[in-house]
Amino acid sequence: MSELDLEGVKSAHIGRRAVLCGAVAIALGVSADIASASVPAVGIKQVGKKLQIDLAKNKALGKVGGAVTIDLSNGTSVAIVRTSAALKGFTAMNLSCTHQGVTVVQQGSTWVCPAHGSTFSTAGKVVRGPANQALFTYPVTATAKTVTIG
Ligand code: FES
Repeated sequence: MSELDLEGVKSAHIGRRAVLCGAVAIALGVSADIASASVPAVGIKQVGKKLQIDLAKNKALGKVGGAVTIDLSNGTSVAIVRTSAALKGFTAMNLSCTHQGVTVVQQGSTWVCPAHGSTFSTAGKVVRGPANQALFTYPVTATAKTVTIG
């Protein structure tokens, strides 16, 4: 996975979910202490080769453990997760399981693969196999108002 995959996001934003939602393809997550998965989000802007997420429009990122997800044009998804209360406390990771590529889903404070049960921490580290590599992460920068990935 590379920056090229993230560039694929740009075209994906005009893809199926954008059509369905009338917005960029995004899904809001829920806080880590709620055993649930992501839901559609808003406030994504393309800035050059990067994607910028408006924090005011994505309240899930206001809590540690909260997440938003972005569907990529290649069929995979990226999650942006609030991993700490620090200004720059965000992680962006591809949700393709590193075992065989099935998309992991958020369950409480973990990401779980429905195929063979691999489990990853909120930030994408392997908690339980068969996957033996962390989820792929993307560069993240953050301000008080936005999170930018890519
Ligand atoms: S594809 Fe995820 S555990 Fe096998």
